[in-house]
Amino acid sequence: MGLRELTSLTSLETSLLSQLKPESLPQHVAIIMDGNGRWAHARGCSRILGHREGVESARHAVTVCQELGISALTLYAFSLENWKRPKSEISLLMELFGEFFQYHCSQFLQEGIRFRAIGRLELLPSPLQIMIRELEAASQGTERLTVTLALSYGGRDEIVTAVNKIVQDAAQGMVRDGMLNEDRFAQYLSTSDLPDPDLVIRTSGESRVSNFLLWQIAYSELYFTNILWPDFRRQEMLLALLDYQTRDRRLGGIPSREEVELIEPEPSTSGAFPVEDMHVRNRQVSTRLQEPLLQSGEAVGAQGYSSLSSSWLD
Ligand code: FPP
Repeated sequence: MGLRELTSLTSLETSLLSQLKPESLPQHVAIIMDGNGRWAHARGCSRILGHREGVESARHAVTVCQELGISALTLYAFSLENWKRPKSEISLLMELFGEFFQYHCSQFLQEGIRFRAIGRLELLPSPLQIMIRELEAASQGTERLTVTLALSYGGRDEIVTAVNKIVQDAAQGMVRDGMLNEDRFAQYLSTSDLPDPDLVIRTSGESRVSNFLLWQIAYSELYFTNILWPDFRRQEMLLALLDYQTRDRRLGGIPSREEVELIEPEPSTSGAFPVEDMHVRNRQVSTRLQEPLLQSGEAVGAQGYSSLSSSWLD
């Protein structure tokens, strides 16, 4: 692990790092960075100072992911709802994003980090849009870590946008009745080239998902901490990752240690599964359904679930 090589690790960070299991790190970490304003208020400073410190925390999160070999980090930097903030704060934030692209992202390029932005980017000031397009193009092909900035982003809006694209494709005959499934739908989302987040972190004591990656976080582990984002540095990130490693990720299945017996579901005479029996059958059969995948040592992911449910219900 590269982080070990950093001389500035505190003894607590060194200890936390030694407890991390490299084989069960999340592939994709998504963060709702919250609490910049409260951090600044507690120090009698202007909110923008909190945001500036927040940019530093983002830089720390990127470094930790990079050093640990985590392949994707998505940062919720500005929501569609954030457009309701005072104009003065919005324009300072836009300046800050511009600075971030100029200073930090050029460093990202040297370090082989791929940069992307998702959200209604057309609402951003055009110089920012240009910077984003240039950075995305320049960092394409670098695959070690993908850093995605959610800017002017809303999860519901992303889903509605996806549905509108599907309707357009349907009008051109590219999508037909019955062709859609979860995987195909996800291809219409702005994160289509990323795995779903394994871990979502939210700082500042709030326990909400606030319209962030609504489709993609269906099975994510959620980590809420009281730490305000500007204080969320390397140590806090390591604590979040260690907490993640204590989770039993069943993804709708059963604990792998439980022995189960496989029974075949009875086919229905009509070919369709009677809805009224569904809950009873779910209780009887659901644990058994997972067995073939568990035996083969695979994680029961979305693909496993859809193949199981289709073979069972068809
Ligand atoms: C949340 O704090 C922060 C934001 C909505 C602003 C954007 C985030 C940053 C500037 C940090 C990282 C930036 C980049 C470019 C990676 P808040 O203002 O909602 O805080 P509060 O809830 O305490 O008022």
